[in-house]
Amino acid sequence: MTTPCIIRGLGHCVPETRLTNADLERMVDTNDEWITSRTGIKERRIAAKGETTVSLSHQAALRALADAGMQAEELTHILVATFTADSYIPSAACMLADRLGIKGRTAMDISAACSGFLFALETARAFVSLHPQAKILVTATDVVSSRVDYSDRSICVLFGDGAGAAIVTGEAPGDHPGRARLLDVLLATDGSAHDLLTVKGGGSGAPYKPGETVRRDFFVEMNGREVYKYAVRAMTGICQTMMAKHGVAKEQVDVFIPHQANLRIIDAVGARLDMPAERIFTNVQKYGNTSAASVIIALSEAVESGFIKDTNLVLLSTFGGGFTYGSCLLRF
Ligand code: ACO
Repeated sequence: MTTPCIIRGLGHCVPETRLTNADLERMVDTNDEWITSRTGIKERRIAAKGETTVSLSHQAALRALADAGMQAEELTHILVATFTADSYIPSAACMLADRLGIKGRTAMDISAACSGFLFALETARAFVSLHPQAKILVTATDVVSSRVDYSDRSICVLFGDGAGAAIVTGEAPGDHPGRARLLDVLLATDGSAHDLLTVKGGGSGAPYKPGETVRRDFFVEMNGREVYKYAVRAMTGICQTMMAKHGVAKEQVDVFIPHQANLRIIDAVGARLDMPAERIFTNVQKYGNTSAASVIIALSEAVESGFIKDTNLVLLSTFGGGFTYGSCLLRF
């Protein structure tokens, strides 16, 4: 049996720099009407020089620690979900632990593209089962702009940068309820679709030699139409499985937070699940698709803004390259 888990604190951080649709109109052959009607996105945040996955994770982590009323020294495990770590070696998690001034902990990165937060959350849940006293920092962060070709109009309008963090611990009887109780996480992958959404360049399957300039494969490449169709099917299906597993009717879900990839995907999933629009939280309009950070930033903002209230049942869903997808049920 899984040890009960609590999310004790939440935090997020986005860069100050805004990249608006008007800015993009000056960079590539696109326009606000096309971007808004296809994606709902109006602007995204882009990391400035020196802002990295580790620095954004650090800021989000400090906010989540403050929200939980905890000190960094209390942490036992540090997980960073990302596909844009500052380097291949060391991991972002090792560097984040160093920024937090702590040593000797388990620290590791998790790679599940835009589903990274839920894959890291489930890993935290497993650690809590093994070590009921564990106090785990889960951050999900991507500086997607470091892997976006800003001359490719089909990609550059979609993505932004950001970080989110959650503090996860076990739950003892009579414990302070924290922010939310983690009821369940479901994860799935389909590697047969691996070629539909990729960042290959620099990997061992597409290495670079000294002196070579980067090729197209260094950047995000995607078959948008196929990703769209699969994402809608996968997120709908895994949410239905979660709700059936726990006997949850759609009326009982107070807030639904799907991966903030684009508004059309969100609307399509919401319609298939028959969720009223007013219960669906979105912030894709102002941040674009922040990959692994998308759902945790949205969760943190939904709590901060009062969209999520005490006792609410909250359903999360993610989808990303791999393909990877997941759902999560939380009781606030
Ligand atoms: N501005 C103007 N025109 C554009 C742009 C742009 N930024 N990008 C593409 N176009 C053009 C294309 O070149 C094409 O022109 P053509 O007909 O002359 O060839 C036309 O618009 C239509 O292109 P489509 O790709 O068919 O447009 P579609 O309606 O499918 O919308 C989009 C594209 C928005 C990418 C859509 O497919 C989509 O939402 N896909 C899902 C993508 C996504 O969100 N992925 C991330 C999810 S997973 C994850 O987060 C990792």
